[in-house]
Amino acid sequence: MGKAIQNEDYLFKKIYDYVLHQIERKEWKEHDKLPSVRQLASEMKVHRLTVLKAYQLLKQHDKVYVKDKAGYFVQSNVTNNLEYLHQNNPIVSAYVQKNHLSEIHQPSVSYHFSQALIDPNLLPNHYFSDYVKKVFDLYPKVLATYSTVQGDLELRETLAQYFINQYKTHLGADDVFITSGSQQAIHLIAQAFIKPRDVVLFERPSYSAAIDIFRAQGAQIVTVDIHPEGYDLEQVEYYIKQYKPRLFYLNPTFHNPTGYTISIEQRKKLVELAEQYRFLLIEDDAYHDIYFDQAPPPPIYTYDSAGTVIYIRSFCKYISPGLRIAAVICPSSLRNALLTVKSLADNGSPLLNQKIFLHYFSSLRLQQHLEKIRIALHIRKEIMEEELAVTGWRWTSPKGGLNLWVELPDKLPPELLLAKSIEQSISFVPGQICDPLKQLSSWIRLSYSYANEKQLREGVKRLVAVAQSLSK
Ligand SMILES: Cc1ncc(COP(=O)(O)O)c(C=O)c1O
Repeated sequence: MGKAIQNEDYLFKKIYDYVLHQIERKEWKEHDKLPSVRQLASEMKVHRLTVLKAYQLLKQHDKVYVKDKAGYFVQSNVTNNLEYLHQNNPIVSAYVQKNHLSEIHQPSVSYHFSQALIDPNLLPNHYFSDYVKKVFDLYPKVLATYSTVQGDLELRETLAQYFINQYKTHLGADDVFITSGSQQAIHLIAQAFIKPRDVVLFERPSYSAAIDIFRAQGAQIVTVDIHPEGYDLEQVEYYIKQYKPRLFYLNPTFHNPTGYTISIEQRKKLVELAEQYRFLLIEDDAYHDIYFDQAPPPPIYTYDSAGTVIYIRSFCKYISPGLRIAAVICPSSLRNALLTVKSLADNGSPLLNQKIFLHYFSSLRLQQHLEKIRIALHIRKEIMEEELAVTGWRWTSPKGGLNLWVELPDKLPPELLLAKSIEQSISFVPGQICDPLKQLSSWIRLSYSYANEKQLREGVKRLVAVAQSLSK
């Protein structure tokens, strides 16, 4: 029974998204008649009531309207990113240049549930001061020179060996690229491979800053829902055939914001699709090592033999956000394009940071540190879940990562909850900014990783009290 409801809910969302995409892509234009409920139900092989429910919600969201006895029609004022682009072409500088996430982080609060960062007290701060001294002894001129654009060779060799040991796939130092955090890697990839109006596939929801980066580059974003069990790969293939994306940006392991992880079968299938339809998979893997009990499946790039995956592994979250070190594994055919944009951006990431990172990364301390933070984060996740248990809000308990992706009841609008929470010195991320379609308006992202255990209990209690006072 529970499963049937879930399935029905899922199909209904699929129809809703499909219709919205058709409208956004202008396949169905203003005042066009939508297919009849019966016709769409038969095409999509779902029950008629499911289509009807999706049409009704689209009407409620003002995307379609009804004419008596004539059926459903596309509303005239549906604005969305594609429409925005159509209206503003071809002036690229007119694209929205905004970083929604950094705006959310601006208010100064005591209870940070908006930061997908690990509590600085859990990071190996005092070891770094030892390594700074060691690095200056070993390389006295480290600040007197640039790194190579691709990154320090010693570090690239160490990382190549690390990936070989972990995943048993062949790799050389030349295949590894160092960037200043994964954020820079995403930015460089967007600059190197995306022209205005290129289509990119995105998970929905997704990492908010990546949405803003691709959008600022003029990309047209088409979304694929991510569920606890992964993507609907038929839908993915349908969109690939229909929209011919240049790339699919995805975060398949302890996904931000949902915490979901894609199965090995789906990983392999994605590589096959990328090979067959010739698009790139951009695998953003910032949380791979942050699991509680069981290590996640190997990254998608390990199944790729045709050079269709660019893999981004950030070490910022659990080693040092401040050192800004991420590794990119890039197929050789694409390397020059990335090198060019990287050299134009900064001529290479700071060498001092790379050397400090190298010495910590190669030490035995890393493994002990990882074991410690896995336990600490697991405890914090459980504290947050315990405190939220009284609310009746819904989430899928993550097996790693830093966030809970929580669905609020309809009567509790996240914007109002956020405004009142900030008054109580609490911050969180409204789900809407994680949605390229700017919907998902009943979801929020709560990070359990930044506040310590005491703050976490107090802060969530306060948040619950704010929510209860609003519900009255
Ligand atoms: C999915 C994802 N990618 C990239 C980043 C950027 O991280 P960094 O630039 O610190 O590596 C984040 C940070 O929250 C993230 O969640």
